[in-house]
Amino acid sequence: MKIGIGNDHVAVEYKQALKAYIEDKYGYEVVNYGTDSTERFHYPESGKAVAEAVASNKIDKGILICGTGVGIGISANKIKGIRCVICSDPYSAKLSRQHNDTNVLAFGSRVVGLEVAKMIVDEWLTAEYEGGRHQVRLDMISDIENQGNID
Ligand code: RB5
Repeated sequence: MKIGIGNDHVAVEYKQALKAYIEDKYGYEVVNYGTDSTERFHYPESGKAVAEAVASNKIDKGILICGTGVGIGISANKIKGIRCVICSDPYSAKLSRQHNDTNVLAFGSRVVGLEVAKMIVDEWLTAEYEGGRHQVRLDMISDIENQGNID
C-alpha cells in the first residue's frame, strides 16, 4: 500500500508525525507531496498533487492536512475520480470508506488533535468499501462529474 500525504505550512510537524505513525503502525510507504517548510505554501498545490497521484494510480490513497482541511480537500475534489472526505471524526472517516469509497482523506491540524487524527486515520485505512446498494450512488456522482457545468 502506497499512501500520499500532502499539507501546507500550517501542518508541517503534524504531517511528519502522522507520516511516521502510518509507516510504523502499518508498514506502508508514505510519499510526501507536502511542504516541510513553515514558509507560506498554497494548499491547492499539494491537494492537486496528491489527488492526481491517486487518480492516476501512482499511489493507492491520499491524506491531506491544512489548517481546517477544507481548502486542501476542496482542491482534491476538483480532480476527476477523487472522492475526498473532509472530516473531524473517526465515524465519518469509517463510513466514508464503507459507503462512499473515499480515496482521499482531509482534516485540519487546527481542528483535530493529533491523537484523534490517528484514530481517524486508523478507521479510514482499515475500513473497506461495501459496494452493493452504494454503487448506484457513486455512479450518479460520476455522472455529475462527467456532465460538466451547464451554461
Ligand atoms: C492557511 O492560513 C489556511 O487558510 C489553510 O491552512 C486552510 O485552513 C485552508 O482551508
